[in-house]
Amino acid sequence: MKAVVLVGGQGTRLRPITYDIPKALVPLRNRPFMGYMLDFLRGGGVDGAVLSLGYLPDPIQEYLAGWRGFSVDYAVEEHALGTAGGVKNAEEYLDGDPFVVVNGDVLTGMDLAEAIRIHKESDALATITLTSVEDPTAYGLVEVDHEMVVRRFIEKPAADEVTTNLVNAGVYVIDPEVLGMIPAGQEVSIEREIFPELQARGRLRAHVSSSYWRDIGTPRSYLAASHDVLSGAVGTNRGTFEYMDVAENARCGKNVKLLPPLSVAGGCEISDLATIGGRSSLGRNCRVGRGAVVEGSIMLDGAQVEAGAVVRGSIIGRNARVGRGAIVRGLSVLGAGCVVGESNVLDQGIRVNPGVVLPPRSLRF
Ligand code: GTP
Repeated sequence: MKAVVLVGGQGTRLRPITYDIPKALVPLRNRPFMGYMLDFLRGGGVDGAVLSLGYLPDPIQEYLAGWRGFSVDYAVEEHALGTAGGVKNAEEYLDGDPFVVVNGDVLTGMDLAEAIRIHKESDALATITLTSVEDPTAYGLVEVDHEMVVRRFIEKPAADEVTTNLVNAGVYVIDPEVLGMIPAGQEVSIEREIFPELQARGRLRAHVSSSYWRDIGTPRSYLAASHDVLSGAVGTNRGTFEYMDVAENARCGKNVKLLPPLSVAGGCEISDLATIGGRSSLGRNCRVGRGAVVEGSIMLDGAQVEAGAVVRGSIIGRNARVGRGAIVRGLSVLGAGCVVGESNVLDQGIRVNPGVVLPPRSLRF
């Protein structure tokens, strides 16, 4: 069985991080997201993937060049074709059998083999997996009947329109016949155009999974997914899980506090009296200055937090620098190479574009 992995989107909700890193490669516990995705597919019995690419395709292909024992093909779009157009564009690599389609930003421990089995036993042309979420208002709801036939889609409902908490989990099993419903070379949405058509014909079924599920499409959900992977909550970890994953060549000064779970990659330097709080992940060659505190945050490769600065629940882009005594908290996101000058305070989900330099003491919340 093959899978089409949709990774062609621009990831606008995860900007500024996705200006230079495609969403498919953002790290979780210092491993690019796509690694978890391919593990998930392999674990479900899939033996080859077609990556449906558009935005920033090169780094994704470079990362996957080293994968062995699993065939990977690439279908690259010249202009965005949408989620169904991206599948159609991968058709030449499919073999005429049913196939899996996944949104390339879904982290899940669901039983894919079970979803495939259920699809094959039904008369559906497509089976869509559903997951329950606490607040469904930000998602597309899917109403099903007692036989799991899809009855209705409700896009981003108001609170009083919520009739179910089941949402589209972005993992589908699809019959090849569906490819004939998608015009080639055009932008087509699988959720908004193809599934409603299948639903109207009574040929769309659902499969509900109660396993771990999260998409990594926003700073909040990316950070939460990072926390979950660090604490082993995802259900994709096998046996020897280390809560304290510190590279051998990372250097720590005196009286440094390292609180698990955390991940510190090679080449990091953590100075005296610094604290790296639980559920933080530091990429390669990061630096944390004397007495600085980093808690529940992601620092991407080469990021720096200078002496006495505090970073809490935030994402620091590649080679970005947080100056002495600055505070970055509350889901702030710094783009690559930006500089937060001394003693600034960033909060409330502020996003700083790549390369921006904030002079010392210019922002306070
Ligand atoms: P936002 O811009 O933040 O909404 O993110 P996105 O571009 O990733 O869009 P969305 O989350 O709706 O997409 C779901 C999945 O489909 C993601 O894995 C995207 O990479 C993928 N995707 C979205 N649009 C396209 C497209 O035009 N072509 C391909 N091949 N994949 C797409």
